[in-house]
Amino acid sequence: MIGRLNHVAIAVKDLAASTALYRDTLGARVSQPLPQPEHGVTVVFVELPNTKIELLEPLGADSPIAKFLERNADGGIHHICYEVDDILAARERLKAQGARVLGSGEPRIGAHGKPVLFLHPKDFCGTLVELEQA
Ligand code: CO
Repeated sequence: MIGRLNHVAIAVKDLAASTALYRDTLGARVSQPLPQPEHGVTVVFVELPNTKIELLEPLGADSPIAKFLERNADGGIHHICYEVDDILAARERLKAQGARVLGSGEPRIGAHGKPVLFLHPKDFCGTLVELEQA
């Protein structure tokens, strides 16, 4: 059911320093910062030949990654995103197998303008999983 790895998201405390690390030390192409107030993060996209890395910095008072950064002071992998062809069919299949969909369970428009859902990390090897309709 799942398809390509769309991105790996890494939460960071200092987006400028993390951008410099990826651009200058690792030699990657990194986009300009993109504030996404509706998601409580500012994002840069690290463009790799086969996928993307998203560096997420908290934005605003109640950012969904603030707690994660309290527990992971150096930053860390926050979630991974897999593509699916049909997000509603994917949701029904997962729910039928007992997996927990976070939030209302209805797809939201994600960082790339496409419908996304998040799956409970306790159901997926301790990793927060995002599904994005391809
Ligand atoms: Co994501």
